[in-house]
Amino acid sequence: MSEIVVVKLGGTTLADQHQVLVEVAKVARKRPVVLVHGGGKRMTEWLARLGVETRFENGLRVTDPAALEVAAAVLRGVVNSELVAALRDVGCDAVGLSGVDGGLLIGRRLENVGLVATVTGVRRDLLDSLMVSGQVPVVAPLARDEEGMVCNVNADDAAAGLAAGLGARQMVLMTDVDGIRDADGNKLDSITAERAEQLIAEGVIRGGMIPKVKAALAALAWEGTEAIISDGSAENALTRSLEDPTFGTRVSASGAGA
Ligand SMILES: Nc1ncnc2c1ncn2[C@@H]1O[C@H](COP(=O)(O)OP(=O)(O)OP(=O)(O)O)[C@@H](O)[C@H]1O
Ligand SMILES: [Mg+2]
Repeated sequence: MSEIVVVKLGGTTLADQHQVLVEVAKVARKRPVVLVHGGGKRMTEWLARLGVETRFENGLRVTDPAALEVAAAVLRGVVNSELVAALRDVGCDAVGLSGVDGGLLIGRRLENVGLVATVTGVRRDLLDSLMVSGQVPVVAPLARDEEGMVCNVNADDAAAGLAAGLGARQMVLMTDVDGIRDADGNKLDSITAERAEQLIAEGVIRGGMIPKVKAALAALAWEGTEAIISDGSAENALTRSLEDPTFGTRVSASGAGA
């Protein structure tokens, strides 16, 4: 098991990102970090501005060719460049790339959501060579499918694919809520796969939290990867996610340790 940590920054976190980027820079001086970003809210703004309509199915944006053009432009062009620039401002040697660059992410198309893929393969040597030289890869969630089509990937799914492909020790999914909440609105410190499935079935876990929980469960399939869902705008959010078991929600495969 490596010391690699995969950090995913969610939509709202991107707007309030300075603090967490300073932390990313700090952690990256001690251990290899791969950053993945979403961009849901920015994409919604651009789609509206350009008059392209989209809808969500189980938290995934149904992506037709027009929406994919906007997704690729916004994720790789706008959001990724902003993040790389902001990280470089705080002394972090960040390198931006999308899952298409260097054949980094291979995807398989999901059914009924258009040009949306789930990650099935990672070109690990590309990331290893960046991390070995102290650089921080910043990955925009796009992938090519088996037919060579560029597809949108939910960023939580991209993070899980990267964590599994790299054998990461920890994966932190940073979002705009403090963790998974139960039906009474209480934040859970930890959740098992079984309870998570139950809360999804009951509609308590819904929308964008569904792909997040599924991504955390997929990352667990890699034995030993710890998956944490937490609020990226909280003070010391990354350090606490990595070290404090009461911060955010830890997702585990079974009751053991939960
Ligand atoms: N049970 C739950 N507990 C906590 N949040 C939940 C729950 N069910 C649904 N949510 C929603 O999930 C949202 C987080 O997912 P969302 O996809 O909106 O953000 P993100 O993944 O951080 O950003 P992006 O999609 O841009 O990468 C929260 O803002 C919250 O409204
Ligand atoms: Mg999301």
